[in-house]
Amino acid sequence: MEKQLTYIHQLKNRISVEVDLSGWVYNVRSSGSLVFIECRDGSGICQCVVNKEEVSEESWEAAVSLKQESSIRLHGLVVADERSIGGVELQVQSVEILQLVTEYPITPKEHGIEFLMNRRHLWLRSQRQWAAMRVRNGIIFAIHNFFQSRGFIQTDTPIFTPNAAEGSTTLFETDYFDEKVYLAQTGQLYGEALAMAHGLIYTFGPTFRAEKSKTRRHLSEFWMIEPEMAFYDLEMNMDLAEDMLKSIVADVLMNYSHELELLERDISSLQRLIEKDFARIQYNDAVDILTSEKTSRLLDELIQQRVSEKEELIKELGTIQKEHSSAKKWRKKQIENLIVDINMRVDQAEEDLRNIPKWKKSAQEFTWGSDFGGSDETVLTMQYDVPVMITHWPAEIKAFYMKRDVTNTYALGVDILAPEGYGEIVGGSQREDNLEVILARIQQEGLDPKVFDWYIDLRRFGSVPHSGFGLGLERTVAWICGLKHVRETIAFPRMMGRITP
Ligand code: 4AD
Ligand code: MG
Repeated sequence: MEKQLTYIHQLKNRISVEVDLSGWVYNVRSSGSLVFIECRDGSGICQCVVNKEEVSEESWEAAVSLKQESSIRLHGLVVADERSIGGVELQVQSVEILQLVTEYPITPKEHGIEFLMNRRHLWLRSQRQWAAMRVRNGIIFAIHNFFQSRGFIQTDTPIFTPNAAEGSTTLFETDYFDEKVYLAQTGQLYGEALAMAHGLIYTFGPTFRAEKSKTRRHLSEFWMIEPEMAFYDLEMNMDLAEDMLKSIVADVLMNYSHELELLERDISSLQRLIEKDFARIQYNDAVDILTSEKTSRLLDELIQQRVSEKEELIKELGTIQKEHSSAKKWRKKQIENLIVDINMRVDQAEEDLRNIPKWKKSAQEFTWGSDFGGSDETVLTMQYDVPVMITHWPAEIKAFYMKRDVTNTYALGVDILAPEGYGEIVGGSQREDNLEVILARIQQEGLDPKVFDWYIDLRRFGSVPHSGFGLGLERTVAWICGLKHVRETIAFPRMMGRITP
């Protein structure tokens, strides 16, 4: 028979059963004749109690020698325990050490972000990082579920490409048997060809952008999901995107509540958007909102809010610092953690106080015809508690393949901005399907018609109205997990200034 391992997430169904657990020491402390091991095995964490009276001398010696991230094998009895994580506890009968670790570099104390990013290969074991990767997995699965259940097929498009599709300034160039080629910025153009063969398709693959911007939203390698639908207009495209996002959020809320809790995600805003219609506005409305009196007042209020928040925090800090000197040992530890936490919140308030005036200036001075910057997106989404879909963009700032409205001024594109300041997670459009127009657009953009000849064929042979969009996976993970920066949404981020580990 196949040898089966027992995993921690199964233990609630193994009460009163003796099991073997294999894992790593997440945390360990001892108290007299007891050693408490928090063991993690990838599926979860379980408190494992070693009682000196109940194990061999060998096992006891092993238990007391354990340090963080030592690899171990335990044998013991599963008992129900309301107070423990996961509602169970292991009463250990034997302890075997696979490798004793003495100096694990990441301790429970606070580390700076650069320190942690340089040790990303180890940092991934920490609870919050573990939770984020699990939610990412849940989002990926939900996306496949959504499209597969609607008759879409997944198709894969090339990564080596001979041409730009999303602007020539963000191309990664590489050598392909002495020919200059680029890493794919998008799979869309190939997706369009596949949609003409299959009707409904989606791609799910890595995409590359040499964006020279170090922001919390930009990676140079990220994963994009790009559905493409024959016979869909812009509105059907938007309806699909809205249904998809609701479906992803609903699945994650149902299956990953424990992970969201570990991430301290306030899920009320996610719950709300499943029930409500997304906001749909045009570019012109968005510009009006940005430059309005109301937005200016809103930002002033936000500044006031942060000022009083900061004052409150500093008061709180004073109070507990006074308590610290006379506190008992266990309380001292608690207070020290609190101080770290409050200081972090003060830093955040200060950062906001530096930023919000800049956001205000950028919003007020926004000129028609430009693209929204990161802070403009934040300011726009602040006004809604659901995602905002912005359509009808000045054609000049959008890609050559987007269809234009009857006035020829606006591109039938749609950006979806996630709420709570997360900004653009989806970019899509109805595609230009007219042969003469697409030829003219390619020429106007100074693109080489020869490399696009196959793409133009799609307008020569059975052209139909069609639409699609691209969902950025990492930005979606950041939003759903409530993470501030995309660097924590992918196992090994690639972004400007970082290629290791
Ligand atoms: O808006 P974008 O550039 O659209 C396209 O590439 C279209 N071809 C998609 C389509 O219609 N099939 O990119 C789509 C999404 C963005 O909304 C964003 O979520 C993500 O991809 N994205 C990035 N994510 C992380 N880092 C970057 N540098 C990103 N650039 C785009
Ligand atoms: Mg975009």
